[in-house]
Parts: sequence; structure tokens; C-alpha cells
Amino acid sequence: MKIAIFGMGYVGFTAACCIASEGHEVIGVDVNDSKIADVNNGIAPFEEPGLQELMTPSTQARRLLATKSVPDALANADMAIVCVGTPSGVDGAHDMRYIADVSRQIGTALAREKPLAPVTVVYRSTMRPGTMRKLIIPIFVATLGADWAAHVTLVYNPEFLREAQAISDYFDPPKVVIGTIDGKPNEVLQALNVNINAEVFVTPFEEAELTKFVDNSWHAVKVAFANEFGRVCQKMGISARQVHKIFVADTKLNISPYYTRPGGAFGGACLPKDVRAFQYIANDIGANTHLVDSLLRSNEAHKNHQFDHITRHAEAGSKILMAGLAFKAGTDDLRESPNIDLVRKLLEAGYDVRVFDPCLSPDKLRGHNLGYLYSTLPQIDALLIDAPAAEAGDWDLVVVSNATGQALNLSKFKTLETHCIA
Ligand SMILES: NC(=O)c1ccc[n+]([C@@H]2O[C@H](COP(=O)([O-])OP(=O)(O)OC[C@H]3O[C@@H](n4cnc5c(N)ncnc54)[C@H](O)[C@@H]3O)[C@@H](O)[C@H]2O)c1
Repeated sequence: MKIAIFGMGYVGFTAACCIASEGHEVIGVDVNDSKIADVNNGIAPFEEPGLQELMTPSTQARRLLATKSVPDALANADMAIVCVGTPSGVDGAHDMRYIADVSRQIGTALAREKPLAPVTVVYRSTMRPGTMRKLIIPIFVATLGADWAAHVTLVYNPEFLREAQAISDYFDPPKVVIGTIDGKPNEVLQALNVNINAEVFVTPFEEAELTKFVDNSWHAVKVAFANEFGRVCQKMGISARQVHKIFVADTKLNISPYYTRPGGAFGGACLPKDVRAFQYIANDIGANTHLVDSLLRSNEAHKNHQFDHITRHAEAGSKILMAGLAFKAGTDDLRESPNIDLVRKLLEAGYDVRVFDPCLSPDKLRGHNLGYLYSTLPQIDALLIDAPAAEAGDWDLVVVSNATGQALNLSKFKTLETHCIA
């Protein structure tokens, strides 16, 4: 294929070298003269292990060139790949000027000589959800006209490479995410990725756009979390290395997908109390664990969000069945269950609530468990109903708040899952 790559930075130039090494004809485009000169002189424009060695055979064979001319780069191109920067703007949002500029340049160049078959234009820069549909498509409509899709096929394909191992990450990425206008695969990009061995996810644009933010924020959470534990260990004379070794060895609960699915707030007998106590310890020794300190507040915010979400789906005074009272199905441990808070808030807001939870018989509860339930929800005995009553009810809304709801036939009701955000 002939491929034009816009932006000869870390992402764009690495992709250019990797793609050219596979035998494609690559032409790089940049606004920076010295980068163009470097590429055309066979010199890698920045340091990245293995890049100079990878580029040399391609520049010698004139399979890898650079230009400032957008029309030259796009002439007979099968694909354009956009890798321009999206730095922070003054308000913290991405500064989208380079994306907007390059999109208009591509649209204007293609409008001069409209390609008969659509050129695939792939965006690899990191951009907020909605950019493809609300910024880039309108630019192509403005430059190419209402029939823009006859000349351009747009794809969003986020980049996951890490600098210093960029080449191996290009060929062996953790995953390939392809966002398209309708969530259907793109054949041209599939052909380009033929040598890449990774799981491929094809989605509409927005899910692909958000993925990159979730990933990078998660990496930042992991680093900040590790360092908070590191600070506590250091202050207490405990070996952080040993604690880390034990932590990562647990691939069932710690380094695993467990606890990462969006859904209910955390609760139960252990998480809230131990996070609270860990906060106390960290404060006491002056370790300043801001991330850990934010966990309970974040959890409260989520409970309020869940309450708001339910009230948007049911008018005050309407009949609601809560399917699940414990923090998860299969237990009658109600201590700090977020579902108890939800029922309390709904009752206070004037909803007519009943609760189904087959694991629960109040007369079997003891100690803290009993105390927590009755001090938070003194009306509980009058609220609990069994499965036949739950299925026979005339509910305006059924809130499935833990997996207990699966035991019921709820097909005739409007339902809202709060234990699992779709
Ligand atoms: N660097 C990384 O490790 C990494 C990893 C994944 C994703 N990303 C994302 O990829 C994007 C690019 O990152 P980068 O680190 O390669 O940026 P960079 O700053 O190294 O390179 C961007 C290049 O785009 C060029 N450019 C600007 N406007 C242009 C235009 N109109 N036409 C052609 N070229 C133009 C700039 O001159 C520069 O050379 C960003 O959105 C970034 O968030 C970066």
C-alpha cells in the first residue's frame, strides 16, 4: 500500500518505520522542516531504541520519505494515518488545533482531486470521545461536501505504544482497538495489521476514543497507589519490595479483572472499614495517601449517582422493587451495604419501596449485622417480600441491585441494573 503518515513524532515516525519495514511505501508529513530533512537524510528525528536500524533499509530503498506537501503525500494514497500531537490546553482539555488543521488539510487536498474509491483516514492521536463524530466529520463535510463518505472512510485506532519499547509494542501491542462510524470492521486497516498478533476490538468511534483515557488513567492510578503504599512502608520500616511481591502474586483478586467492572458501590464487612483504618494509619504516620483518602468519598459520590439515576427513571411516589439488599448476592451480611443506603434514600424521597433478597431472614441476623440493618433501615420487616410477591407486584420500576435479581422472572417490568453498568 501507499500510506501517508501525518506527524513525524514518537507515534507517527515509529509507525512509519515499522510499516515501511513491512514493504509498504510510506510518506511522512510534518510541519517541522528539520524533521522532514532528517527523515529524507536517513536520520531518525529522535532517540528510540532500534529505530535508526529499522529505518535505514527503508530510506535506502526510498520506501520511506517525508514531505511538507499534503497533496503530494496523498496522491494515490490508499491510507492516511494521523499522529499529530494533542497537548494540554490552558484549561486542561486537549488542544485540538493540530487535529483540526491536519483534518482540514487532508479534506482540502482530497477535494481538489476527489478519489474515486474512498481513502481510509486513520486517527491514532489521543482525543476525547466525540471528536471523530463532532469535530472531524464536520471538517470533512465542509471540505468534501455532503457526500464526503464517498471519498473518505474514517477510522479511530488508538495507539498503545510505550516510548523506549515502541517498535516491539507496535508489532506486539496489548490489543488493537478499531473505532468506526457504525462499529463495523475496516478492511484496509485489517490488511495493514495482518502481521500484528493481538486481540482486535471493533466498536463505534466513542468507545474506542474513551478506551485510551481509561487505560492511561488506570496506569496513573496504579503508580499513585503503589507509591502511597511505598510511602507507608518506608515510614513504618516495612519492606515495600516484599509487600509488592506478595501483592502481585495474587492474580485472583489483585492483578485480575476482579473489582474492575463498573456497577455498584463497594460495601460489606471489610472494604469500607479497612480503607478507613488504613487512612487512619497513613495519616497517623504522615504518609499523605491522597488516593486512598479519596476512596470513601468517591464511593459516596457513586451511591448518590446511583440514587439520582434511579430517580430519573421513576417518579416520586412510584412503586419500586429493589432486588438485592446485601452488597452482593449469596450473603446475608448487610454491614455497610450500599443497597441499604439506596433503599433508605428512596424511602426518604417518597418512593414506595419493597425489597427482595432470598438470602435474608432478619431473625437470623446477629451482632453488628443486625445493628447496622435496623439502625439504618428500621422498617425492614415491613419491606421484605418473597419471590412470588415480587413477581406478582405492579412495580413501576425494578432495581436489580445485586445478582439476586436473576432468580426472578422480571420480563414484564421496567428494570434498571445498578450492580452492573452496561
Ligand atoms: N508518545 C507516546 O508514547 C504516545 C503513545 C500513545 C499515544 N500517543 C498520542 O499520539 C499523539 C502523538 O503523540 P507524539 O508523542 O507522537 O507527539 P509528537 O509531539 O512527538 O509529534 C507530533 C508531530 O506532529 C507534527 N504536526 C503538528 N501539526 C501537523 C500538521 N498539521 N501536519 C503534519 N504534522 C503535524 C508535529 O510537528 C510533531 O512532529 C498524541 O495524541 C499522543 O497523546 C502518544
